[in-house]
Amino acid sequence: MAGMQYKHPGGAVKADLAEAFKGGSKLELWHGRWYSVAEAQAPVEARMNPSSRIRSLGSYPFARLDAEVTRLRDAGVDVVDFGVGDPSTPTPEIVREACKRGVDEHAAAGYPSYVGRADYLRAVADWTERRYGVSLDPKREIAATIGSKEAVFHFPEAILELGEVVLVPNPGYPPYVTGTRFAEGEVCPYPLTAANDFLPDLAAIPQEDAARARILWITAPHSPTGRQPSRADLARIVEWAAARDIIVASDEAYSELWFREPAPSVLEVAREGVIVFQSLSKRSCMTGYRVGWVAGDPRLVDLHKKLKTNIDSGVPNFIQDAAIAALGDEVHVEETRAGYAHRKERLRAAFRACGLPDADPDATIYLWQPVPKPFTDEEFSRLMLDPRLGLVVLPGSWMSETVDGENPGRGYVRWALTPPEDQVEEAALRLEEHYSAVLAKALSKRADQKAAP
Ligand SMILES: Cc1ncc(COP(=O)(O)O)c(C=O)c1O
Repeated sequence: MAGMQYKHPGGAVKADLAEAFKGGSKLELWHGRWYSVAEAQAPVEARMNPSSRIRSLGSYPFARLDAEVTRLRDAGVDVVDFGVGDPSTPTPEIVREACKRGVDEHAAAGYPSYVGRADYLRAVADWTERRYGVSLDPKREIAATIGSKEAVFHFPEAILELGEVVLVPNPGYPPYVTGTRFAEGEVCPYPLTAANDFLPDLAAIPQEDAARARILWITAPHSPTGRQPSRADLARIVEWAAARDIIVASDEAYSELWFREPAPSVLEVAREGVIVFQSLSKRSCMTGYRVGWVAGDPRLVDLHKKLKTNIDSGVPNFIQDAAIAALGDEVHVEETRAGYAHRKERLRAAFRACGLPDADPDATIYLWQPVPKPFTDEEFSRLMLDPRLGLVVLPGSWMSETVDGENPGRGYVRWALTPPEDQVEEAALRLEEHYSAVLAKALSKRADQKAAP
């Protein structure tokens, strides 16, 4: 590997491995990401050399947590996993039935439409009209996606030239970052902090980054902070981006899981220069079905279609049938919302009973909880793994990028409200019963460690 060169998305040769190894224990590959020399130097058969794109992914931070959870389970602890953002609620029956019928109706399972069947696109347009009062042309302004993750990941490929900038929320959904890196763009994370009410602080984005930016990702409502931008916030964001010729890519995967009032869409304030990424995964408990859509500026939807016809072959017809059934029903969505609200309030009651900091999201399926002093987020999530609690929560710093030494996730943990209600009840009871003893033990251990010579 000596002499192998890594390219900076800006086009400049950033680092020569052999040189970098001489220099110290760390090597910079791409924006804000560091790789240990051991990781970079691990011997590989030359033909197995991963691409610099794969290398940019770094290591999987959750592996350590997975190992810990396995150890606890092996020791007989009944772990409640608040770490995974995958709903445990079954997909509604009307959706499953429509899917089953669809399998027989499309007995000849040819390639489906690349961009989505006309009746699926119509169902999306009708839903958008009912939900937001926004009327879309199904042919020009909507296209089907295989869930939203692939569309989010691929979109920068349709837009970026080498080294152009993409502004991403930090913390945020990882494919904004990985998709940009794979498209050889440069990621500029903008922090979402309590000081700015977890809204994008656009004035704080450096002018030189904004000047090179092509895409501004927003998540509305935002995961994991649970902050739901208002219509006025969205209008302000769109205006800022339009003035700088930047596309607004709005990920609205959690739009239906609001707690106070329906989350607005960026489509209510603009269409020009705007593209929305939507999904039925969370709204209709369909993560395993892989279906969603993009909607917005027809020129952007068109670019997405051009890209997609070269990547995959459309959403299977029986899945589109299931999606049409899901879009036609709001009863199950109300039930899903009520289920999350109940889990959220049960956990918050336990937090209050234990004197733990509160988290009060507007929307999503997450609690972004500040950790109690004096613990770091990693320490607090470890404390939750005490066998008397057996609760898995994710350290916020694992979900955020460190930029200039600052990590906006530091000091937070994420609770995904996804375990079944009886498990959430069990978790809340364990907190109420054992948290103070677990806390006392952790504090006395800290005191002993400090006192040790
Ligand atoms: C913010 C956000 N956007 C998009 C997605 C992707 O959802 P899917 O690919 O299942 O549509 C997720 C999934 O967890 C998410 O958290």
